[in-house]
Amino acid sequence: MPYKILEKRELGNSGILFEMILHTPLIAQKAHAGNFILVRVNETGERFPLTIADYDREKGTITIVFQVFGKSTKLLSHQKIDDEILDVVGPLGNKIHIQKYEYPVVIIGGGVGIAPCYPQAKELKEAGNKIITIIGARNTGLLFWREKMRSVSDELIICTDDGTEGIKALVTEPLEELIVKEKISIVIAIGPLIMMKYVAQTTDGSGDLPKVKTYVSLNPIMIDGTGMCGGCRFSTVDGDIYFACVDGPDVDGHMVDFENLLKRSMRFKDQEKESLDKYDHECKALDKFQNEVS
Ligand SMILES: Cc1cc2nc3c(=O)[nH]c(=O)nc-3n(C[C@H](O)[C@H](O)[C@H](O)COP(=O)(O)OP(=O)(O)OC[C@H]3O[C@@H](n4cnc5c(N)ncnc54)[C@H](O)[C@@H]3O)c2cc1C
Ligand code: FES
Repeated sequence: MPYKILEKRELGNSGILFEMILHTPLIAQKAHAGNFILVRVNETGERFPLTIADYDREKGTITIVFQVFGKSTKLLSHQKIDDEILDVVGPLGNKIHIQKYEYPVVIIGGGVGIAPCYPQAKELKEAGNKIITIIGARNTGLLFWREKMRSVSDELIICTDDGTEGIKALVTEPLEELIVKEKISIVIAIGPLIMMKYVAQTTDGSGDLPKVKTYVSLNPIMIDGTGMCGGCRFSTVDGDIYFACVDGPDVDGHMVDFENLLKRSMRFKDQEKESLDKYDHECKALDKFQNEVS
């Protein structure tokens, strides 16, 4: 059953971040913070995972936000309003645990990882928690959803690597200050693996700061999303093996072997580049053909 794109907009001013609202009534009914979908744009497309960044049960819609990395995300970015996506499977993965915590919850979103933080902040806020959100990106052009994040946060801290907006800092700097200043019940971090690794290191109690329970949202390669293929497996620092699609994607950040995961995330770089180059070549050939016939 195809799924219609009801809305599409570019986020920030980098030309690589997009938000889409999809008509997926059955998925919208069941969606919760932490869930993701698998998308296949057309018959020749790959299946790839995207987090449900928002949902509207009444309208039967879900919101996705994605960054163009390679062939599949570029193909998705070329779709227009009213186009239909061939397959959308979900909601997949575990929803996050929601409870009222004694102390504030700190939610950290880095880059495109800001979007998946929204439903988590929203559901935790609705449960009565004090939410302190930190969002960060390389520069102001890669930041988005400031007001949306503010609407579900008691405090919003903005960071950029180059100081073009908010404080010139990595997200771990305000996190350290918060942990020194007050008691924090949990930290949730969603963003690049390297960011999540350093957040987990900041809160693991190994340095001068107290230990704070920390969840990270893992994004290894996923194929079936249902625990069958093993593509998304990750190991813990104790050597245990888990599958991010069915055991996560949100997991205890202090148990993740980030070095191993970082290595695994680079394994298919050559094939991914080849696939993107082939797609770009096909797009150029199609443009040339359309220019010639028009
Ligand atoms: C649970 C989960 C949720 C995600 N949510 C989002 C999101 O909300 N927004 C967003 O922009 N991105 C999200 N991602 C990452 C997104 O799936 C990849 O960016 C996308 O698959 C890249 O495909 P590509 O063909 O464009 O790029 P490629 O050139 O194929 O790959 C670029 C990089 O993307 C990653 N990747 C490639 N294929 C997959 C795959 N099948 N599964 C997972 N990662 C892959 C790899 O790290 C790879 O190096 C999520 C990943 C996971 C696992
Ligand atoms: S994606 Fe296949 S086991 Fe997780």
